[in-house]
Amino acid sequence: NLDLNLYGSHPFYLDVRNENEVVLFVFIIIFIFLNLSSKSNEEEETMIGYGYRIGWVKVDPSAKSLTATLHLIKNSSIYGPDIPNLTLFARLETKDRLRVRIIDSEHERWEVPADIIPRQNPSEIPLNGYIRSKDNQILTSLSSPSSDLVFTLHNTTPFGFSVQRRSHSGQLFTTAPDLVFKDQYIQLSSSLPLQTSSLFGLGEHTKRSFKLQHNDTFTLWNADIGSVNLDLNLYGSHPFYLDVRNENEVVASHGVLLLNSNGMDVEYTGDRITYKIIGGVIDLYFFAGPSPDLVIQQYTELIGRPAPMPYWSFGFHQCRYGYKNVSDLESVVAGYAKAKIPLEVMWTDIDYMDAYKDFTLDPINFPLYKMKKFVDSLHGEDQKYVVILDPGISINQSYETFIRGMKADIFIKRNGIPYSGVVWPGPVYFPDFLDPKAHTFWADEIKRFREKMLAVDGLWIDMNEISNFIDPDPIPFSTLDDPPYKINNAGVQRPINNKTVPATAIHYGNITEYNSHNLYGFLESKATNAALVQATGKRPFVLSRSTFVGSGKYTAHWTGDNAATWDDLAYTIPSILNFGLFGIPMVGADICGFSRNTTEELCRRWIQLGAFYPFARDHSDKYTVRQELYLWDSVAASARKVLGLRYRLLPYFYTAMYEAHTKGIPIARPLFFTFPQDLETYEISSQFLIGRGVMVSPVLKSGATLVDAYFPEGNWFDLFNFSNAVSVDKGKRITLSVPQDHINVHAREGNIIAMQGEAMTTAAARKTAFHLVVIISITEETTGELFLDDGDDVTMAEEAQAEKWTLVKFYANLTGNVLTIGSQVVNAEFALSQKWVIDEVTLLGLEKGKRLEGHNGLPHGIMNPSLKRHSDFRASFVDSDQFVTVQLL
Ligand code: NOJ
Repeated sequence: NLDLNLYGSHPFYLDVRNENEVVLFVFIIIFIFLNLSSKSNEEEETMIGYGYRIGWVKVDPSAKSLTATLHLIKNSSIYGPDIPNLTLFARLETKDRLRVRIIDSEHERWEVPADIIPRQNPSEIPLNGYIRSKDNQILTSLSSPSSDLVFTLHNTTPFGFSVQRRSHSGQLFTTAPDLVFKDQYIQLSSSLPLQTSSLFGLGEHTKRSFKLQHNDTFTLWNADIGSVNLDLNLYGSHPFYLDVRNENEVVASHGVLLLNSNGMDVEYTGDRITYKIIGGVIDLYFFAGPSPDLVIQQYTELIGRPAPMPYWSFGFHQCRYGYKNVSDLESVVAGYAKAKIPLEVMWTDIDYMDAYKDFTLDPINFPLYKMKKFVDSLHGEDQKYVVILDPGISINQSYETFIRGMKADIFIKRNGIPYSGVVWPGPVYFPDFLDPKAHTFWADEIKRFREKMLAVDGLWIDMNEISNFIDPDPIPFSTLDDPPYKINNAGVQRPINNKTVPATAIHYGNITEYNSHNLYGFLESKATNAALVQATGKRPFVLSRSTFVGSGKYTAHWTGDNAATWDDLAYTIPSILNFGLFGIPMVGADICGFSRNTTEELCRRWIQLGAFYPFARDHSDKYTVRQELYLWDSVAASARKVLGLRYRLLPYFYTAMYEAHTKGIPIARPLFFTFPQDLETYEISSQFLIGRGVMVSPVLKSGATLVDAYFPEGNWFDLFNFSNAVSVDKGKRITLSVPQDHINVHAREGNIIAMQGEAMTTAAARKTAFHLVVIISITEETTGELFLDDGDDVTMAEEAQAEKWTLVKFYANLTGNVLTIGSQVVNAEFALSQKWVIDEVTLLGLEKGKRLEGHNGLPHGIMNPSLKRHSDFRASFVDSDQFVTVQLL
């Protein structure tokens, strides 16, 4: 084969010069060289001989922060000129967080604003310490007894850096010496241990597997691309990953965030991760873990803990694009009531609007007086109502919202005038949520709508990537519209301007769309959340399609436009688990599928799974068959059964949300959050946990009568009937039967779960007595928590007054033959005022008449824990330290 690289490598050439006569020969050599290099991979070109060297380094005396200057060694020839001088700041910010930031030394560049993700710039920290010259060959490290992370600057040429953890040794991040830093192209990569590292996160994408697969590229550029599409960039951007390492039997996790809002491709080969970013700066955060839940706690401590969600939002939601009129809505509500399927929240898509204009009502099909009556009747039944809002404001001189928007001058501009896109209403302008005035405008519109029209309980904000039905003029205003490096937008390197607002559009403060594009949904969520607080004085519920780092502070999320297929049903699990990692724990997928016609079997299996999503909403496209759960008898029967269990578990879901709000830990969790030492659990994408101890193992295939489920070690009890126990000494796959009306939901030993009664609304369920399910473990502690408040206050837990909430920490102790169940109560007052009681305790994990033994030693099958009910029992759980003592025979 002519011209290809062959068996050997000899980077040597003979150059024969004869200045005047052999010019042609030299030209040939140059030609061959250029020819070869143009054939070589552009990326490799940037990796050889380029990079930066260290100038000087300053370290503060406590060795907690460091500043270094970096100087370009050699220009690389692609994607525009290099930035010659950079400054690197590294700082051990907390005991488990390190920040490494690399910026242009001479020019200010775009960075995610600190008011979006509050943080302190290390550059602001006085560095009155040492100056070390580059000749002084000291490896410069940040290492402090008060930090688990260690930062090391490699004084090599080109320079590099690495991050280590003290508690669990190993290199967490080791850069390759190939840093490229240009105006519109930044490249940084780190090696990863191929055999021992598993990565999770880097979304939003639809993937088959929760664990990231090798040789994949994760493009981040918010786009209105249906989640039915595997592997493409979708509605949100979360450049965060969780890395779980298993080195010599020691399992330890850490997290890495690249806080950058520009478009990027993240390439992951298995032994390397490479960021290719089209702007901004390098702003990396490392979280020391070492357990997966600690990583997410540390991550959400930085980006903000998830918003508390109202209690009612854990009820079941029904939506559809294409409800025709008020009677259609009424008949759906009636359909649920008649079928005795709990319906908590009725939703309406863009159909309710007059010509798709926000804050209006279609006078023919959704007239005000009928709508008011409808919403009042929902409220009368303790049900809620949510409507959609799109960001695009119709350009229409007789439309008051538009007139007020123009007057307030809050729209995104291009060329000095508002930029006009096209969405449902036709031509629209988009409010610029980087502008504080736009927040005021938005809050004012929402308040007016609630006062003059409908007292909606929550808001659904869609199309906020921003989705635009037109592509802007193909002639770029500047290289922002057509950057030299093409990220893999839509999987085909689609121009970044297509189907959105052009990159040269201008926001408040002269910020370009190019830089802030990925922040739009985040900022709209923030504005909508604040608007609802202002308008209602209650805890807001916002559902946003587009998200960014930190969105969980303001909004819930659904996974967008899936399809009614079995594959899509399966994809919902990795997608939902991802949002838990991203700090947006209130997440769900369109139950029964959005596009395409669902089937009775699919919809039945989907509600069986969807009943255990943190956010459970049935939603469909207008071009599909209807899919309300009461439409098929078998689906209705399943819905009653699974939603029945969901409603009994409401206190458990709500307590998981309290944990999410106070610590950041997801509501729906991967199995490895509870079993980090069980390596099998890292591969599981078809099951998940709610909270710590309830495992959902759904059917994901048509025609299935059996399901293969993985059970981590321990005793597990079917939560529907408290029997069908599964006991495994060591994690094991078990085949379970799945009659058409059943989904396997098991609770594990060591957990105490406070349940309440079934009801048609969450308000009614809250009035029922508690039922404590105590699953005794012989080898581990048996505990459980219950958080109680009114479910509606803007603030929650510590932020609220003590008399507004109660936290009960249950425990069970088995000493000899005596079992004691008790509780420690924080702020008893609230629970006492509500007069809640426990009127039933179910003990699981005890064999009738004797203590359950042999957790480890006994062969399978011998252990068959049965339950013992104490139905005649009644206690107030807040004022008693040892409220039940059971003498075992
Ligand atoms: C796109 C959303 O993803 C979908 O849920 C909604 O039904 C349509 N827009 C219409 O508003």
